[in-house]
Amino acid sequence: MSFRRNAGLLALGLAVATPLSLLSLAVTSSTAMAQEAAEVSAVPEQPAATAVVLSQDTGPAQPGDAERGAAKAATCAACHGMDGNSADPQYPKLAGQHEAYIARMLGLFKSNQRQNPIMLGFAAPLSKQDMRDLGAYFSGKTALNGVADESVIESGPNSGKKFYQVGESLFRGGDAARGIPACAACHGPTGSGNPGPAYPHLAGQHAKYTAMQLTAFRDGLVWGTEDSANTVMSGVAARLTDEEIQSLASFIEGLHATDSGALPLAEGTSAAH
Ligand code: HEC
Ligand code: HEC
Repeated sequence: MSFRRNAGLLALGLAVATPLSLLSLAVTSSTAMAQEAAEVSAVPEQPAATAVVLSQDTGPAQPGDAERGAAKAATCAACHGMDGNSADPQYPKLAGQHEAYIARMLGLFKSNQRQNPIMLGFAAPLSKQDMRDLGAYFSGKTALNGVADESVIESGPNSGKKFYQVGESLFRGGDAARGIPACAACHGPTGSGNPGPAYPHLAGQHAKYTAMQLTAFRDGLVWGTEDSANTVMSGVAARLTDEEIQSLASFIEGLHATDSGALPLAEGTSAAH
């Protein structure tokens, strides 16, 4: 565990986290936002995970071309949606995901280092340039965010809190005592990740998909082998409870940045910001 290597990253997280008015969470009632903004806490100083420098071997020299990507994306639409907003929550949204991350994942599916029989089949025929083009196409789309679960927890250690608040607190501040780093330190305060291959955009992702991945990470899932292995998330997720995983996933689905301050969305609506 190297805390020092993350110091710069955290400082960045704190700096970016300051304009709270830019942060918002879609919730099912209109009263929650003012409260939420007041409860946001700064990223703590000790993340428990080590940031891994990934080999940048996923791309060819040419950056992706979104127009070429659009032509290739037709085969992906059945599951991921033509605009990258999948209807079925077991398929991840690709809209707004970073080009380099998409290209890296397609490379890992193709080499079966991220094992998924469906995606193996779709990634196998793709060249590195195809992967970049598809990445460029989907990164230019806007993720439609969902709504976080506001129902009140009735029993257990988090009794009385709104369901998503458990995850919100971990996302923004982690839990130093249990060695859980703030998700925001790497995925950003608005869940937008980082344009490199490493840190995916999370905001608006289907809770079902996010919970599935977090559970798999907790069970030790690592994407990539040897040089390309990234063990960060298995470390991050190791101590999360089921309730925390579900709550994080719900919070992330409703998380979105707005340019007009806190904007809670009514249930059943969605908006792209
Ligand atoms: C038949 C359904 C299906 C089709 C068609 C499909 N995918 Fe997928 N895709 C999936 C599933 C399921 C997953 C989740 C895999 C997992 O759990 O590891 C996934 C995951 C991904 C991911 C990882 C996303 C993340 O957030 O980590 C990328 C990138 C991706 N698909 C790109 C594509 C592209 C590009 C195409 C078209 C060339 C495509 N997919 C076609 C089902 C599909
Ligand atoms: C130290 C940096 C770091 C921290 C802290 C971190 N993550 Fe991650 N996360 C990553 C990296 C890197 C990946 C990509 C994994 C890979 O490339 O193999 C990732 C991937 C993910 C994914 C998969 C996204 C997808 O589209 O499939 C989810 C979900 C996720 N993180 C959620 C979280 C949550 C929730 C937290 C806080 C509890 C968190 N992360 C904290 C670095 C981090």
